[in-house]
Amino acid sequence: MTIVDSHLDVAAERSLADDVFDGLTRPFKELPPKHFYDARGSELFEAICAQPEYYPTRTELAILQERAGELMDGIDELVELGSGATTKARLLLEGGDSVSRYVPVDVSSSVVRAAALELADLDVDVHGVVADVERHLDRLPAPTGRRAVAFLGGTIGNFTPGSRRRFLRSVGKLLEPGDRLLLGTDLVKDPAIVEAAYDDAAGVTAQFNRNVLAVCNRELGADFDLDQFEHVAFFDRVHEWVEMRLRALTPQRVTIPALDGLVVDFAHREELRTEISAKFTRARIAADLAAAGLVLEELVTDPDEWFAVSVATVADADGTRFRR
Ligand code: AVJ
Repeated sequence: MTIVDSHLDVAAERSLADDVFDGLTRPFKELPPKHFYDARGSELFEAICAQPEYYPTRTELAILQERAGELMDGIDELVELGSGATTKARLLLEGGDSVSRYVPVDVSSSVVRAAALELADLDVDVHGVVADVERHLDRLPAPTGRRAVAFLGGTIGNFTPGSRRRFLRSVGKLLEPGDRLLLGTDLVKDPAIVEAAYDDAAGVTAQFNRNVLAVCNRELGADFDLDQFEHVAFFDRVHEWVEMRLRALTPQRVTIPALDGLVVDFAHREELRTEISAKFTRARIAADLAAAGLVLEELVTDPDEWFAVSVATVADADGTRFRR
């Protein structure tokens, strides 16, 4: 059985315009990373995952391959936030012993519809939800049993620290005692390894980064010259996150018709921040989860400890743990 609910409306389409208006009128210009992912951007992200320098995807997959059984032990339904491709879901669904439903949640309706088709050979109901996980988590179907809510890939790292805790708090509301959160996070490691992953030799990440300007050109009629911006990626050792930026090679003036003809000037070498991708330690994961009323039960890593899938549960009123 397949059901698809949709919660996106015109308001969602305005979000790019509003974000660009905010982000390009600030003293330090910034655009949120969610606007990378139009069809071309999603394709470029898939290509990034195949680059030798980009270790997170294959490392997380290896963890799921190895440990799906214990991650899904006793679970009846898998809710996957920002589901994307079904590769990870398949490993988790096949690893469980009693999973009867899969609930993929994604902003892309094609992604949600494809999930049902791609998993047709499995004995699970698919109840897809087209929604923005930052706004619509209260609209998921009622649980059918013990739930695992998965937020994988390290996407939690795209949130700034306060928003990250706010988001985890809203995810926590989906969990009852006995349910669990499966949270994928990239881990702190040698900065050279991290920086290479965000600046691959083939230049795919650089193209992905500049693609957000192409999105602004197409959707808002902006006139960004993509060749006049260079890709910058560096590990911020204080905050323990990677930043991606676009640096203007010469002074630039950009006009944005859809924002009432907004004129945006870039000084020579001025930088626009396009993404942060936080890298975690066990202590930071535990602290962020605790701030959201969750308890870190287990940190499942690869042998090199490059990436982790954390298992978390809801704390009771006294903040002590529930037995699984
Ligand atoms: C999809 C958010 C997990 O932060 O590593 C890949 C996106 N950016 N290369 C990440 C990304 C540059 C990716 N996430």
